[in-house]
Amino acid sequence: MNKSRTKYKCGKCNAERSNWSGHCDMCDSWNTFEVDLNSDTTPKGLSNKKGRAVKFVGLKGEKEFIPRIKSHIEEFDRVCGGGLVPGSAILVGGDPGIGKSTFLLQVCAAVDRNKGVRCLYISGEEAIDQVRMRARRLGIENANVELASATNVRDIIESLDQEESATLVVIDSVQTLYIDNLDAAPGSLTQVRTSAQELTRVCKKRGFSLFLVSHVTKEGNIAGPKTLEHLVDCVLYFEGERGHQFRILRTIKNRFGPSDEIGVFEMTNTGLTEVSNPSKMFLRDRENEVSGTSVFAGIEGSRPMLMEIQALTAPTNLGTPRRAVIGWDSNRLAMIIAVLEARCGVSISNQDVYLNVAGGLRIKEPAADLAVAAALISSITGRSVSSGLIVFGEIGLSGEIRPVNQTNIRLKEGSKLGFTGAICPLELTKNSSKTPEPKVEMDINSVNHLDDLIKCFNKTSDTSTDSDMEG
Ligand code: TYD
Ligand code: MG
Repeated sequence: MNKSRTKYKCGKCNAERSNWSGHCDMCDSWNTFEVDLNSDTTPKGLSNKKGRAVKFVGLKGEKEFIPRIKSHIEEFDRVCGGGLVPGSAILVGGDPGIGKSTFLLQVCAAVDRNKGVRCLYISGEEAIDQVRMRARRLGIENANVELASATNVRDIIESLDQEESATLVVIDSVQTLYIDNLDAAPGSLTQVRTSAQELTRVCKKRGFSLFLVSHVTKEGNIAGPKTLEHLVDCVLYFEGERGHQFRILRTIKNRFGPSDEIGVFEMTNTGLTEVSNPSKMFLRDRENEVSGTSVFAGIEGSRPMLMEIQALTAPTNLGTPRRAVIGWDSNRLAMIIAVLEARCGVSISNQDVYLNVAGGLRIKEPAADLAVAAALISSITGRSVSSGLIVFGEIGLSGEIRPVNQTNIRLKEGSKLGFTGAICPLELTKNSSKTPEPKVEMDINSVNHLDDLIKCFNKTSDTSTDSDMEG
Protein backbone atom coordinates (compact mmCIF):
# COMPACT_ATOMS: atom_id res chain seq x y z
CA MET A 1 0.00 0.00 0.00
CA ASN A 2 1.15 3.51 -0.76
CA LYS A 3 1.45 5.39 2.48
CA SER A 4 1.20 9.15 2.12
CA ARG A 5 4.06 10.82 3.92
CA THR A 6 5.07 14.33 4.82
CA LYS A 7 7.79 15.88 2.65
CA TYR A 8 10.28 18.56 3.64
CA LYS A 9 11.64 21.28 1.41
CA CYS A 10 14.70 23.45 1.76
CA GLY A 11 13.65 27.11 1.78
CA LYS A 12 16.78 28.18 -0.02
CA CYS A 13 17.44 25.72 -2.82
CA ASN A 14 14.07 23.86 -2.92
CA ALA A 15 15.71 20.48 -2.35
CA GLU A 16 13.15 17.83 -1.19
CA ARG A 17 13.73 15.29 1.51
CA SER A 18 11.48 12.73 3.13
CA ASN A 19 12.97 13.34 6.59
CA TRP A 20 13.61 16.60 8.32
CA SER A 21 17.20 17.59 8.62
CA GLY A 22 18.97 20.54 10.19
CA HIS A 23 21.49 20.88 7.38
CA CYS A 24 20.88 21.05 3.63
CA ASP A 25 23.66 19.11 1.87
CA MET A 26 22.75 20.68 -1.48
CA CYS A 27 23.26 24.37 -0.67
CA ASP A 28 25.10 23.89 2.63
CA SER A 29 22.65 26.07 4.61
CA TRP A 30 21.32 25.37 8.10
CA ASN A 31 17.76 25.24 9.51
CA THR A 32 16.08 25.79 6.17
CA PHE A 33 13.95 22.62 5.91
CA GLU A 34 10.18 23.05 6.40
CA VAL A 35 7.12 20.89 5.81
CA ASP A 36 6.16 21.11 2.16
CA LEU A 37 2.44 21.95 2.28
CA ASN A 38 2.01 21.82 -1.49
CA SER A 39 3.50 18.40 -1.99
CA ASP A 40 0.73 15.96 -2.90
CA THR A 41 2.13 13.42 -0.49
CA THR A 42 1.22 15.60 2.51
CA PRO A 43 -1.45 13.92 4.71
CA LYS A 44 -4.83 15.10 3.38
CA GLY A 45 -7.06 15.79 6.42
CA LEU A 46 -9.59 18.47 5.47
CA SER A 47 -7.12 20.21 3.09
CA ASN A 48 -7.89 23.82 2.18
CA LYS A 49 -11.40 23.27 0.88
CA LYS A 50 -13.96 25.23 2.86
CA GLY A 51 -17.14 23.79 4.34
CA ARG A 52 -20.43 25.53 5.07
CA ALA A 53 -20.90 26.96 8.58
CA VAL A 54 -23.30 25.03 10.77
CA LYS A 55 -26.37 26.93 11.98
CA PHE A 56 -26.98 27.01 15.72
CA VAL A 57 -30.47 27.39 17.20
CA GLY A 58 -31.96 27.85 20.67
CA LEU A 59 -32.88 25.02 23.02
CA LYS A 60 -36.54 25.92 22.99
CA GLY A 61 -38.09 25.47 19.56
CA GLU A 62 -41.43 26.54 18.14
CA LYS A 63 -42.50 23.13 16.98
CA GLU A 64 -45.16 21.16 18.85
CA PHE A 65 -43.87 17.71 19.67
CA ILE A 66 -45.81 14.77 18.35
CA PRO A 67 -47.01 12.77 21.33
CA ARG A 68 -45.64 9.33 22.01
CA ILE A 69 -47.45 6.39 20.50
CA LYS A 70 -48.93 4.15 23.18
CA SER A 71 -49.41 0.44 22.77
CA HIS A 72 -51.53 0.11 25.91
CA ILE A 73 -49.45 -2.92 26.79
CA GLU A 74 -48.42 -1.23 30.00
CA GLU A 75 -45.30 -3.23 30.68
CA PHE A 76 -44.07 -2.37 27.20
CA ASP A 77 -44.95 1.32 27.31
CA ARG A 78 -43.07 1.65 30.57
CA VAL A 79 -40.00 -0.09 29.18
CA CYS A 80 -40.00 2.42 26.28
CA GLY A 81 -40.15 5.31 28.73
CA GLY A 82 -43.88 6.01 28.29
CA GLY A 83 -44.61 5.02 24.71
CA LEU A 84 -42.83 5.09 21.37
CA VAL A 85 -41.18 8.31 20.27
CA PRO A 86 -41.94 9.10 16.61
CA GLY A 87 -38.79 8.93 14.52
CA SER A 88 -36.92 6.69 16.93
CA ALA A 89 -35.15 3.45 16.09
CA ILE A 90 -35.54 0.61 18.57
CA LEU A 91 -33.38 -2.47 18.52
CA VAL A 92 -35.03 -5.60 19.92
CA GLY A 93 -32.51 -8.33 20.69
CA GLY A 94 -32.86 -11.80 22.11
CA ASP A 95 -32.15 -15.47 21.58
CA PRO A 96 -33.87 -17.12 18.61
CA GLY A 97 -37.27 -18.46 19.61
CA ILE A 98 -37.66 -16.30 22.71
CA GLY A 99 -40.70 -14.48 21.31
CA LYS A 100 -39.51 -11.34 19.52
CA SER A 101 -41.64 -11.81 16.39
CA THR A 102 -44.66 -12.81 18.43
CA PHE A 103 -44.37 -9.81 20.68
CA LEU A 104 -43.81 -7.21 17.97
CA LEU A 105 -46.81 -8.49 16.05
CA GLN A 106 -48.82 -8.07 19.25
CA VAL A 107 -47.49 -4.52 19.66
CA CYS A 108 -48.44 -3.67 16.05
CA ALA A 109 -51.94 -4.91 16.69
CA ALA A 110 -52.26 -3.08 19.98
CA VAL A 111 -51.05 0.46 19.20
CA ASP A 112 -53.46 3.32 19.37
CA ARG A 113 -55.43 3.52 16.14
CA ASN A 114 -57.41 6.70 16.59
CA LYS A 115 -54.86 9.01 15.00
CA GLY A 116 -54.55 7.19 11.71
CA VAL A 117 -51.61 5.11 12.79
CA ARG A 118 -50.25 2.92 10.01
CA CYS A 119 -48.30 -0.19 11.02
CA LEU A 120 -46.07 -2.09 8.63
CA TYR A 121 -44.61 -5.48 9.48
CA ILE A 122 -41.82 -6.56 7.15
CA SER A 123 -40.66 -10.11 7.65
CA GLY A 124 -37.53 -11.46 6.08
CA GLU A 125 -37.74 -14.75 7.91
CA GLU A 126 -41.30 -15.89 7.44
CA ALA A 127 -43.68 -15.99 4.52
CA ILE A 128 -46.81 -13.85 4.72
CA ASP A 129 -48.98 -16.89 5.35
CA GLN A 130 -46.86 -17.92 8.31
CA VAL A 131 -47.24 -14.48 9.87
CA ARG A 132 -50.97 -14.65 9.23
CA MET A 133 -51.11 -18.06 10.89
CA ARG A 134 -49.42 -16.66 13.95
CA ALA A 135 -51.78 -13.69 14.01
CA ARG A 136 -54.73 -16.08 14.00
CA ARG A 137 -53.20 -18.04 16.84
CA LEU A 138 -52.78 -14.81 18.80
CA GLY A 139 -56.36 -13.79 18.02
CA ILE A 140 -55.32 -10.52 16.37
CA GLU A 141 -56.01 -11.39 12.71
CA ASN A 142 -58.49 -8.51 12.38
CA ALA A 143 -56.02 -5.85 13.46
CA ASN A 144 -55.03 -3.31 10.85
CA VAL A 145 -51.43 -4.34 10.21
CA GLU A 146 -49.91 -4.31 6.72
CA LEU A 147 -47.64 -7.26 6.01
CA ALA A 148 -44.82 -7.73 3.56
CA SER A 149 -42.10 -10.25 3.05
CA ALA A 150 -38.88 -8.62 1.85
CA THR A 151 -35.13 -8.70 2.40
CA ASN A 152 -33.70 -6.27 -0.14
CA VAL A 153 -32.99 -2.98 1.63
CA ARG A 154 -33.26 -0.99 -1.60
CA ASP A 155 -36.85 -2.20 -2.06
CA ILE A 156 -37.75 -1.68 1.58
CA ILE A 157 -36.41 1.87 1.60
CA GLU A 158 -38.20 2.65 -1.67
CA SER A 159 -41.51 1.74 0.00
CA LEU A 160 -40.78 3.56 3.27
CA ASP A 161 -39.20 6.76 1.99
CA GLN A 162 -42.46 8.40 0.95
CA GLU A 163 -44.44 11.45 1.95
CA GLU A 164 -47.34 9.59 3.58
CA SER A 165 -45.14 7.03 5.23
CA ALA A 166 -45.92 4.68 8.07
CA THR A 167 -46.11 5.41 11.80
CA LEU A 168 -44.62 2.15 12.96
CA VAL A 169 -42.37 -0.21 11.02
CA VAL A 170 -41.11 -3.61 12.16
CA ILE A 171 -38.16 -5.22 10.39
CA ASP A 172 -37.84 -8.88 11.35
CA SER A 173 -34.88 -9.43 11.31
CA VAL A 174 -31.87 -7.29 10.33
CA GLN A 175 -29.82 -10.42 9.86
CA THR A 176 -31.86 -11.40 6.80
CA LEU A 177 -31.47 -8.03 5.07
CA TYR A 178 -29.02 -7.35 2.28
CA ILE A 179 -27.86 -4.40 0.22
CA ASP A 180 -27.24 -5.53 -3.35
CA ASN A 181 -24.10 -3.52 -4.01
CA LEU A 182 -22.20 -4.86 -1.04
CA ASP A 183 -20.19 -8.00 -1.59
CA ALA A 184 -20.73 -9.50 1.85
CA ALA A 185 -23.34 -12.18 2.64
CA PRO A 186 -26.58 -11.34 4.50
CA GLY A 187 -25.98 -11.49 8.25
CA SER A 188 -22.37 -10.35 7.95
CA LEU A 189 -21.19 -7.36 9.90
CA THR A 190 -21.05 -5.07 6.86
CA GLN A 191 -24.52 -5.99 5.62
CA VAL A 192 -26.19 -5.80 9.02
CA ARG A 193 -24.58 -2.51 9.95
CA THR A 194 -25.13 -0.77 6.62
CA SER A 195 -28.74 -1.98 6.37
CA ALA A 196 -29.48 -0.75 9.87
CA GLN A 197 -27.82 2.59 9.11
CA GLU A 198 -29.85 3.12 5.93
CA LEU A 199 -33.11 2.21 7.63
CA THR A 200 -32.42 4.45 10.62
CA ARG A 201 -31.70 7.32 8.26
CA VAL A 202 -35.11 6.97 6.60
CA CYS A 203 -36.78 6.54 9.97
CA LYS A 204 -35.41 9.91 11.16
CA LYS A 205 -36.24 11.57 7.86
CA ARG A 206 -39.84 10.36 7.70
CA GLY A 207 -40.56 10.29 11.42
CA PHE A 208 -41.81 6.74 11.89
CA SER A 209 -40.84 4.49 14.79
CA LEU A 210 -38.64 1.67 13.60
CA PHE A 211 -38.23 -1.70 15.29
CA LEU A 212 -35.17 -3.66 14.25
CA VAL A 213 -35.25 -7.27 15.39
CA SER A 214 -31.87 -8.89 15.87
CA HIS A 215 -31.06 -12.39 17.05
CA VAL A 216 -28.37 -12.96 19.59
CA THR A 217 -25.99 -15.29 17.81
CA LYS A 218 -23.34 -17.63 19.05
CA GLU A 219 -21.42 -17.84 15.77
CA GLY A 220 -18.93 -15.13 14.95
CA ASN A 221 -19.82 -14.88 11.25
CA ILE A 222 -23.32 -13.56 11.87
CA ALA A 223 -23.44 -10.11 13.41
CA GLY A 224 -25.47 -9.89 16.60
CA PRO A 225 -27.36 -6.96 18.15
CA LYS A 226 -24.28 -5.68 20.02
CA THR A 227 -22.89 -4.40 16.73
CA LEU A 228 -25.91 -2.10 16.26
CA GLU A 229 -26.39 -0.70 19.74
CA HIS A 230 -24.64 2.59 19.00
CA LEU A 231 -26.77 3.23 15.89
CA VAL A 232 -30.21 3.21 17.48
CA ASP A 233 -32.05 5.30 20.08
CA CYS A 234 -33.29 2.51 22.24
CA VAL A 235 -32.07 -1.04 22.89
CA LEU A 236 -34.37 -3.67 24.35
CA TYR A 237 -33.41 -7.24 25.13
CA PHE A 238 -35.65 -10.21 25.71
CA GLU A 239 -34.33 -12.39 28.48
CA GLY A 240 -35.58 -15.60 29.99
CA GLU A 241 -34.80 -19.27 30.25
CA ARG A 242 -36.31 -21.41 27.53
CA GLY A 243 -37.89 -23.78 30.07
CA HIS A 244 -39.61 -20.98 31.99
CA GLN A 245 -42.70 -19.19 30.85
CA PHE A 246 -41.40 -15.78 32.01
CA ARG A 247 -39.87 -13.35 29.56
CA ILE A 248 -38.21 -10.17 30.69
CA LEU A 249 -37.95 -7.21 28.34
CA ARG A 250 -35.05 -5.12 29.56
CA THR A 251 -34.00 -1.63 28.47
CA ILE A 252 -30.26 -1.43 27.92
CA LYS A 253 -30.21 2.04 26.41
CA ASN A 254 -32.89 4.64 25.94
CA ARG A 255 -32.33 8.15 24.64
CA PHE A 256 -35.87 9.15 25.57
CA GLY A 257 -36.45 7.52 28.93
CA PRO A 258 -34.88 5.65 31.80
CA SER A 259 -32.65 2.69 31.01
CA ASP A 260 -32.58 -0.35 33.28
CA GLU A 261 -36.35 -0.62 33.23
CA ILE A 262 -37.87 -4.06 32.85
CA GLY A 263 -41.20 -5.43 31.70
CA VAL A 264 -42.31 -8.89 32.77
CA PHE A 265 -44.30 -11.12 30.43
CA GLU A 266 -45.53 -14.67 30.47
CA MET A 267 -45.49 -16.86 27.36
CA THR A 268 -48.93 -18.42 27.06
CA ASN A 269 -50.62 -20.21 24.19
CA THR A 270 -52.02 -16.88 23.05
CA GLY A 271 -48.69 -15.10 22.96
CA LEU A 272 -47.00 -12.95 25.56
CA THR A 273 -49.25 -11.57 28.25
CA GLU A 274 -48.12 -8.94 30.72
CA VAL A 275 -47.49 -9.73 34.35
CA SER A 276 -48.39 -6.68 36.33
CA ASN A 277 -47.50 -8.02 39.76
CA PRO A 278 -44.25 -9.88 39.18
CA SER A 279 -43.32 -10.33 42.86
CA LYS A 280 -46.42 -12.40 43.37
CA MET A 281 -45.63 -14.51 40.32
CA PHE A 282 -42.01 -15.16 41.23
CA LEU A 283 -42.90 -16.21 44.74
CA ARG A 284 -45.93 -18.21 43.69
CA ASP A 285 -44.58 -21.70 44.22
CA ARG A 286 -42.63 -20.90 47.34
CA GLU A 287 -43.02 -23.43 50.08
CA ASN A 288 -42.73 -22.30 53.66
CA GLU A 289 -39.52 -22.53 55.60
CA VAL A 290 -37.26 -24.53 53.34
CA SER A 291 -33.61 -24.31 54.19
CA GLY A 292 -31.34 -22.83 51.51
CA THR A 293 -33.72 -20.16 50.30
CA SER A 294 -34.22 -16.49 50.99
CA VAL A 295 -36.42 -13.77 49.55
CA PHE A 296 -34.56 -10.83 48.07
CA ALA A 297 -36.30 -7.48 47.79
CA GLY A 298 -34.76 -5.99 44.66
CA ILE A 299 -35.34 -2.95 42.48
CA GLU A 300 -35.67 -3.48 38.75
CA GLY A 301 -35.75 -0.13 37.01
CA SER A 302 -38.36 1.95 38.75
CA ARG A 303 -40.05 -0.96 40.43
CA PRO A 304 -39.50 -3.14 43.47
CA MET A 305 -39.59 -6.86 42.95
CA LEU A 306 -39.32 -9.81 45.29
CA MET A 307 -37.37 -12.80 44.11
CA GLU A 308 -36.48 -16.10 45.67
CA ILE A 309 -32.83 -17.05 45.88
CA GLN A 310 -32.02 -20.73 46.26
CA ALA A 311 -28.70 -22.20 47.33
CA LEU A 312 -27.59 -25.76 47.71
CA THR A 313 -24.30 -26.84 49.20
CA ALA A 314 -23.09 -30.43 49.13
CA PRO A 315 -19.78 -32.01 50.19
CA THR A 316 -17.50 -32.58 47.21
CA ASN A 317 -14.82 -35.07 46.28
CA LEU A 318 -13.41 -32.83 43.62
CA GLY A 319 -10.15 -30.94 44.12
CA THR A 320 -11.82 -27.76 42.91
CA PRO A 321 -15.39 -27.67 44.15
CA ARG A 322 -18.12 -26.90 41.64
CA ARG A 323 -19.72 -23.45 41.66
CA ALA A 324 -22.79 -23.33 39.42
CA VAL A 325 -24.80 -20.11 39.20
CA ILE A 326 -28.01 -19.36 37.31
CA GLY A 327 -29.33 -15.81 37.26
CA TRP A 328 -26.48 -14.14 39.11
CA ASP A 329 -22.85 -13.17 38.69
CA SER A 330 -20.52 -16.07 39.48
CA ASN A 331 -17.66 -13.72 40.41
CA ARG A 332 -19.86 -12.12 43.00
CA LEU A 333 -20.74 -15.54 44.43
CA ALA A 334 -17.04 -16.37 44.67
CA MET A 335 -16.52 -13.11 46.55
CA ILE A 336 -19.29 -13.80 49.03
CA ILE A 337 -18.01 -17.32 49.68
CA ALA A 338 -14.55 -15.89 50.30
CA VAL A 339 -15.89 -13.24 52.69
CA LEU A 340 -17.96 -15.82 54.58
CA GLU A 341 -14.86 -18.00 54.99
CA ALA A 342 -12.36 -15.29 55.83
CA ARG A 343 -14.45 -13.01 58.03
CA CYS A 344 -17.00 -15.32 59.64
CA GLY A 345 -15.21 -18.68 59.68
CA VAL A 346 -17.93 -20.45 57.70
CA SER A 347 -16.31 -23.31 55.84
CA ILE A 348 -17.49 -23.72 52.24
CA SER A 349 -14.26 -24.60 50.44
CA ASN A 350 -14.98 -28.33 50.64
CA GLN A 351 -18.52 -27.94 49.31
CA ASP A 352 -20.07 -27.75 45.87
CA VAL A 353 -22.27 -24.68 45.64
CA TYR A 354 -25.30 -24.30 43.39
CA LEU A 355 -27.11 -20.98 43.27
CA ASN A 356 -30.33 -20.28 41.44
CA VAL A 357 -32.67 -17.33 41.10
CA ALA A 358 -36.15 -18.83 40.84
CA GLY A 359 -38.31 -18.05 37.82
CA GLY A 360 -35.48 -17.51 35.32
CA LEU A 361 -34.71 -13.95 36.43
CA ARG A 362 -31.27 -12.37 36.18
CA ILE A 363 -30.26 -10.18 39.10
CA LYS A 364 -27.62 -7.52 38.56
CA GLU A 365 -27.90 -5.54 41.79
CA PRO A 366 -25.18 -5.89 44.43
CA ALA A 367 -27.99 -5.47 46.97
CA ALA A 368 -28.67 -9.19 46.52
CA ASP A 369 -25.40 -10.05 48.29
CA LEU A 370 -27.01 -10.38 51.69
CA ALA A 371 -29.83 -12.55 50.39
CA VAL A 372 -27.31 -14.85 48.69
CA ALA A 373 -25.29 -15.07 51.89
CA ALA A 374 -28.46 -15.86 53.83
CA ALA A 375 -29.41 -18.65 51.41
CA LEU A 376 -25.88 -20.07 51.61
CA ILE A 377 -25.74 -20.03 55.39
CA SER A 378 -29.20 -21.51 55.52
CA SER A 379 -28.16 -24.37 53.25
CA ILE A 380 -24.99 -25.06 55.24
CA THR A 381 -26.61 -24.96 58.66
CA GLY A 382 -29.86 -26.58 57.56
CA ARG A 383 -31.80 -23.82 59.31
CA SER A 384 -34.31 -21.86 57.35
CA VAL A 385 -34.75 -18.11 57.11
CA SER A 386 -38.11 -17.29 58.62
CA SER A 387 -40.65 -17.23 55.82
CA GLY A 388 -41.86 -13.79 56.87
CA LEU A 389 -38.53 -12.07 56.18
CA ILE A 390 -37.17 -10.27 53.15
CA VAL A 391 -33.41 -9.74 52.85
CA PHE A 392 -31.27 -7.10 51.12
CA GLY A 393 -27.91 -5.35 51.51
CA GLU A 394 -24.53 -5.13 49.83
CA ILE A 395 -21.57 -6.99 51.33
CA GLY A 396 -18.12 -5.40 51.43
CA LEU A 397 -14.85 -7.32 51.43
CA SER A 398 -14.32 -6.87 55.13
CA GLY A 399 -17.70 -8.41 55.82
CA GLU A 400 -19.48 -5.13 56.46
CA ILE A 401 -23.01 -4.70 55.15
CA ARG A 402 -23.47 -1.53 53.15
CA PRO A 403 -26.73 0.35 52.87
CA VAL A 404 -28.54 0.20 49.55
CA ASN A 405 -30.82 2.72 47.88
CA GLN A 406 -34.63 2.83 47.96
CA THR A 407 -34.92 0.93 51.22
CA ASN A 408 -38.43 2.12 51.89
CA ILE A 409 -39.74 1.01 48.51
CA ARG A 410 -38.30 -2.45 49.09
CA LEU A 411 -39.88 -2.67 52.51
CA LYS A 412 -43.23 -1.49 51.20
CA GLU A 413 -43.28 -4.15 48.49
CA GLY A 414 -42.49 -6.79 51.11
CA SER A 415 -45.22 -5.59 53.40
CA LYS A 416 -47.67 -5.48 50.49
CA LEU A 417 -47.06 -9.18 49.86
CA GLY A 418 -47.48 -10.18 53.48
CA PHE A 419 -43.91 -10.19 54.73
CA THR A 420 -43.63 -9.07 58.33
CA GLY A 421 -39.93 -8.36 58.70
CA ALA A 422 -36.67 -7.62 56.96
CA ILE A 423 -32.97 -8.28 57.40
CA CYS A 424 -31.20 -5.22 56.05
CA PRO A 425 -28.37 -2.76 56.80
CA LEU A 426 -28.37 -0.36 59.74
CA GLU A 427 -28.38 2.83 57.67
CA LEU A 428 -32.12 2.46 57.23
CA THR A 429 -33.17 4.62 60.15
CA LYS A 430 -30.92 7.47 59.04
CA ASN A 431 -32.27 7.34 55.49
CA SER A 432 -35.88 7.37 56.45
CA SER A 433 -35.41 10.40 58.67
CA LYS A 434 -33.75 12.25 55.78
CA THR A 435 -36.60 11.63 53.38
CA PRO A 436 -39.93 11.92 55.12
CA GLU A 437 -41.66 8.87 53.69
CA PRO A 438 -44.52 7.06 55.34
CA LYS A 439 -43.14 4.57 57.81
CA VAL A 440 -43.45 0.93 56.86
CA GLU A 441 -44.74 -1.39 59.56
CA MET A 442 -42.04 -4.04 59.63
CA ASP A 443 -39.76 -5.78 62.09
CA ILE A 444 -36.31 -4.68 61.02
CA ASN A 445 -33.34 -6.87 61.92
CA SER A 446 -30.58 -4.36 61.30
CA VAL A 447 -27.22 -5.84 60.38
CA ASN A 448 -23.97 -4.02 59.77
CA HIS A 449 -21.63 -6.99 59.57
CA LEU A 450 -22.02 -10.53 58.24
CA ASP A 451 -21.57 -11.79 61.82
CA ASP A 452 -24.84 -10.02 62.64
CA LEU A 453 -26.54 -11.92 59.86
CA ILE A 454 -25.32 -15.23 61.23
CA LYS A 455 -26.55 -14.27 64.70
CA CYS A 456 -29.88 -12.99 63.52
CA PHE A 457 -30.19 -16.11 61.51
CA ASN A 458 -29.84 -18.44 64.41
CA LYS A 459 -32.20 -16.28 66.37
CA THR A 460 -34.90 -16.34 63.71
CA SER A 461 -34.59 -20.03 63.03
CA ASP A 462 -34.42 -20.84 66.76
CA THR A 463 -37.68 -19.07 67.46
CA SER A 464 -39.49 -20.12 64.32
CA THR A 465 -38.44 -23.75 64.13
CA ASP A 466 -37.89 -24.43 67.80
CA SER A 467 -40.33 -27.27 68.00
CA ASP A 468 -39.09 -29.24 65.01
CA MET A 469 -35.42 -28.80 65.93
CA GLU A 470 -35.71 -29.95 69.48
CA GLY A 471 -38.26 -32.69 68.79
P1 TYD B 1 -40.97 -16.26 18.09
O1 TYD B 1 -41.72 -15.03 18.27
O2 TYD B 1 -41.03 -16.93 16.76
O3 TYD B 1 -39.44 -16.08 18.47
P2 TYD B 1 -38.32 -15.17 17.81
O4 TYD B 1 -38.98 -14.29 16.83
O5 TYD B 1 -37.71 -14.47 18.97
O6 TYD B 1 -37.35 -16.11 17.19
O7 TYD B 1 -41.44 -17.22 19.26
C1 TYD B 1 -41.53 -18.55 19.04
C2 TYD B 1 -41.76 -19.28 20.33
O8 TYD B 1 -42.89 -18.81 21.05
C3 TYD B 1 -42.01 -20.69 19.99
O9 TYD B 1 -41.12 -21.49 20.74
C4 TYD B 1 -43.43 -20.95 20.37
C5 TYD B 1 -43.76 -19.88 21.34
N1 TYD B 1 -45.14 -19.39 21.24
C6 TYD B 1 -46.02 -19.63 22.28
O10 TYD B 1 -45.70 -20.28 23.27
N2 TYD B 1 -47.30 -19.13 22.21
C7 TYD B 1 -47.73 -18.42 21.15
O11 TYD B 1 -48.90 -17.99 21.12
C8 TYD B 1 -46.81 -18.18 20.08
C9 TYD B 1 -47.23 -17.41 18.86
C10 TYD B 1 -45.54 -18.67 20.18
MG1 MG C 1 -38.75 -14.41 14.73
